[in-house]
Amino acid sequence: MGRIYLILLMILINLNADSSVYEKKCIPCHKKLPVSIDKFFFNYLLKYSSEKQVKNTLYRFLKNPKKKKALASEELINQYGLMPKIIIDDIELNKAIDIYWEKYKVFGKIK
Ligand code: HEC
Repeated sequence: MGRIYLILLMILINLNADSSVYEKKCIPCHKKLPVSIDKFFFNYLLKYSSEKQVKNTLYRFLKNPKKKKALASEELINQYGLMPKIIIDDIELNKAIDIYWEKYKVFGKIK
């Protein structure tokens, strides 16, 4: 019995740690922008549609943001600058992208 609790506890801690990558690394900075982070997600979803494509493109952009690759509007980038290169390791970055995807993909199904 005790073992099951321990496993459940570990899963819970793990889930928490997972969502905190996204909450800690992405949200604080994005809160300052006039365009919400979910709007950005829909741009990617509309343009790239499949999970694999969306995640791959996001990964490449977040690793190395380029003005030419950005889907955000020119005005937004001129005013707030390009998104700074994200300084977290690959495992964390992929986790953040997974969370980002899980959070918003539901909306994509309402087509
Ligand atoms: C220090 C600030 C900052 C942090 C941290 C940050 N962003 Fe951004 N992000 C921006 C700004 C500014 C833009 C708008 C300009 C642009 O598109 O490059 C942006 C744009 C984006 C876009 C749209 C890119 C495009 O195609 O134009 C996505 C998607 C995004 N962020 C996701 C994330 C995710 C996911 C994280 C966490 C892993 C994150 N951001 C962390 C500042 C930040």
